[in-house]
Amino acid sequence: MSILVTGGAGYIGSHLCAELLEAGYDVVVADNFVNGNAESLRRVEEIAHRSLSVYRCDLLDSAGLRGIFENHRIEAVIHLAGLKAVGESVEEPLSYYRNNVAGTLSLLETMRRFEVRKLVFSSSATVYGSTASPPISEGFSLGVTNPYGRTKLVVEEILGDLHASDPRWSIALLRYFNPIGAHSSGRIGEDPCGVPSNLMPYITQVAIGQREELRIFGNDYPTLDGTGVRDYIHVVDLATGHLQALRKIVASRGIDAYNLGTGYGVSVLQLVKAFEKASGRQIPFRFVERRPGDVAASYADPSKAARELEWRATRGIDAMCLDAWRWQLGNPMGYAEMREGGQIIHENRIRHSVLAVSGVGEGSL
Ligand code: UFG
Repeated sequence: MSILVTGGAGYIGSHLCAELLEAGYDVVVADNFVNGNAESLRRVEEIAHRSLSVYRCDLLDSAGLRGIFENHRIEAVIHLAGLKAVGESVEEPLSYYRNNVAGTLSLLETMRRFEVRKLVFSSSATVYGSTASPPISEGFSLGVTNPYGRTKLVVEEILGDLHASDPRWSIALLRYFNPIGAHSSGRIGEDPCGVPSNLMPYITQVAIGQREELRIFGNDYPTLDGTGVRDYIHVVDLATGHLQALRKIVASRGIDAYNLGTGYGVSVLQLVKAFEKASGRQIPFRFVERRPGDVAASYADPSKAARELEWRATRGIDAMCLDAWRWQLGNPMGYAEMREGGQIIHENRIRHSVLAVSGVGEGSL
C-alpha cells in the first residue's frame, strides 16, 4: 500500500516525503513541477536512503491520474498540490480556481473511481479571514479576503459536502500557520520563484547578500513592537503533523479540521533578531507602509491537534532560523544550480533527464 502525495516536490511536500519514507511508508509523488523541483526529490531519497515513485502529472490530467492509481495500490492521498501566492491570486483568479479547485475535483473523482476515500488536505489559516482574534481555534467563523484563500475555503466546503454524501470518506483538513525552516541536513528547503513574498526566504536572501534590505510592512500595528505577529512553525513539525493526521484518517472515518501551529506569536522584529543571532549576520531593514490584506496578529490554538492527533510542534524559533540559514548558506541559488562531478548542471536539464515527460511518466531519480 502506498501514500500518494500531490505536490510532493514542493517546499512542504519534499519535507513530508522525507518523513513518510523514514516512517516506512511507500510514497508516490504526483507533481506538475511548475513550482516543485525534481532535484528536491532526489535529495529526499538521499536523506531517507529509500526511493520514491515520481510522476510528472497535473491534477487536471485525469487520464494521467488514473494511470497512477492503476500502477499503485494507493491507500490514502495527501493533497498539497496547488498555487499559493496571495498577490498572484488577485491578478490571476481563474488560474487559481482552475488549479486549486478544478484540480482537486479531478483528484477526488479519480479517488472515488478507485475507491480510495482517505484524504489529508493542505488548507491554510487564511480561511479564518482578517477578523479572527488570536489564539484562533478551529470553531472560529471562516471568511476569506483573496482568491487564494477562497480556493482553500471552497475545497474545505466541497470536502464537507462529499463526506455528507458518503460517510465512508475519511478526511483531515490541515490549516497551516506560517511554515519556515528547513530539513536539518541542509539538503532540502524553501526555494521560492523570483522575489520571495514571504518573510523568512526574504530574510535569508538579505543575509546572503542577494537582496539589499528587508522592508518591514508596518510598524504601527497594535502588537508588542508594532510589527505583524505570526505563528511560525518548523516545516518538519508541519510534516509530522501530516503523518499524525494520516494515522487518524486510516484508523477512523469522519471529517475534521486541525490547526497546525505552535500556539506562539512572533513579531517580524523578533524573527529578525532571532535570525541575526542564529546566523551571526546583520539584517538591514526599513519600515514601509502596511501590506494590504495583512492582519496585525495571527496565531493558533493548537490544542485540538494535540488532543486528537497526539501532535505538537517541538522546534522553537531558534531552530527554525538555524535550519533556514543552513539551507540558504549551502544552497545560495536554491535548487537552480548544483554541482555534479565539478560541473554546474542547470535545473531544466535535470527535470527533463530524470522524468519521463509524456503521458504518465514514472521517473527514477
Ligand atoms: N513581512 C514583511 N516583509 C516582507 C514579507 C513579510 O514585513 O518582505 C511581514 C508581513 O507583513 C507579516 C509577516 O511578515 O506581518 C509574515 O508575512 P508572510 O508573507 O511570510 O506570511 P503571511 O502571514 O502574510 O502569509 C502566510 C502564507 C499565506 C497564507 C497566510 C495566512 O504565506 O499563504 O499566511 O495564513 F494565506
